[in-house]
Formats: sequence, C-alpha cells, structure tokens
Amino acid sequence: MKFDRLAPHYDWMEYWLAGERLQRARTAWLEELRGRRRILSVGEGHGRFAAACMARFPEAELTCVEASASMIARAQRRLGSAAMRVRWCHAEALVWKPASEFDAIVTCFFLDCFPPDALGAVVNHLAACATRDAVWLIADFALPERGLARWRAQAAHGLMYAFFRAVVGLPARRLTPPDDLLRAHRFQLAGRRDFDWGLLRAEVWRQTQGR
Ligand SMILES: C[S@@+](CC[C@H](N)C(=O)[O-])C[C@H]1O[C@@H](n2cnc3c(N)ncnc32)[C@H](O)[C@@H]1O
Repeated sequence: MKFDRLAPHYDWMEYWLAGERLQRARTAWLEELRGRRRILSVGEGHGRFAAACMARFPEAELTCVEASASMIARAQRRLGSAAMRVRWCHAEALVWKPASEFDAIVTCFFLDCFPPDALGAVVNHLAACATRDAVWLIADFALPERGLARWRAQAAHGLMYAFFRAVVGLPARRLTPPDDLLRAHRFQLAGRRDFDWGLLRAEVWRQTQGR
C-alpha cells in the first residue's frame, strides 16, 4: 500500500467528504483509555487520533506504528511539541516487533484495509502484544444489516474501495469484519456506537482473560 502519495491530501479529503464524522468515531471511546499507560495505535495515519489522545492523556506512553513516512511526518506536524512524547515506528504492522506489551490497542480506519487472510495475520500479530486486561478500540467503516442504510453503505464502500485500490493499491476489495478474529483472541465486544446511518462504527473490545 502506498499511502505516501495520499498524505498531503488526506486532511482536506476527510474534511470535504466527512466533516468531523470520522473524528467522532475515532474518539468515541477515548475515555476507555483512562488509566491505560501503554497505548498502541497502528496505521495511525495523519495523526488525528494521536493528537486527541495526547491532549486527553498527556501522561500516556503512546506508540504509533505506521507504514507511510509521509503520514508520520504529517502526524508529527499536527502534534507539534506533543509529537516528542510519542514513540513513532515507521514499519509495516506485520514486520514491526513490539518491545513491550500494551494495555490498549487502537486501530482507526486500519483493519478495513485488509482482505480476510491478511486481516487474520494482522489481528494475530497485534493481539499477541496485548496485556491480559487490554482494551482494543476500533473505528471503521461498517455495513448496516438492512434497508436504505445498507444500500447507501454498499454504494459508499464500492466507491471507496475502488478509489483506494486505484490510488494506493489497497489489497482489500470489501470490508471484512474482524469480530470473529477478535473473539478468537478472547476479546469481547463491550460497546458499539454507530454514526452516519451506520456507515461508521466505533467499538471497544475488552480482553476477558483477566490477570
Ligand atoms: C485508511 S488510512 C487510516 C489513517 C488513520 N488511522 C485514520 O484514522 O484516518 C490507513 C493507514 O494505515 C497505514 N497502513 C496501511 N497498511 C499498513 C501496514 N501494513 N502497517 C502499518 N501501517 C499501515 C497507511 O499508511 C495509512 O496511514
């Protein structure tokens, strides 16, 4: 995937297409990170989650893993001096080797980039560095179960996947829900909020292994 070429345009595209709706999904469960010390954001992109996270929890140790150097540069500019307190890892998620465990994992509009096999590998890799009481916050596109909202979402997904496939070489052709993969790693859905007629979804999953 080559998100580098999209990095200079990501902000205005997001604002133009979605206003603040994606950011509302990114930050819907931010308070779940209260008291969480080591937070991992994968596919952080242009830094809107990281900026909100560092503003709300300045004492947290945030690690951002991101494959695009241009996205990291954009995110660092957005965060300003707060960027110094973030650990930036320029790496593919599957190649990146965590140096510690994390008590929170955050993926915003990241898991929807992968086709089923790759998604399984990504979830396995990230779940392996979660503590036994970790939370996993997810913001992603979604497909409502029925009705007009479903048709609308199908049309939006079709356009979106075609665009990202053409521009950045996105391997996914459609959305693959990660729910079963997360459950296989003993994460349980603890909360869900839908936005924009169900086109956007924000979820919090909790590890159920306990300490
Ligand atoms: C759709 S963008 C989402 C960006 C941001 N998280 C947001 O909320 O808008 C996906 C991001 O994941 C990054 N990415 C894609 N595949 C990756 C991988 N295998 N490892 C690390 N980052 C990856 C891309 O460079 C891009 O910044």
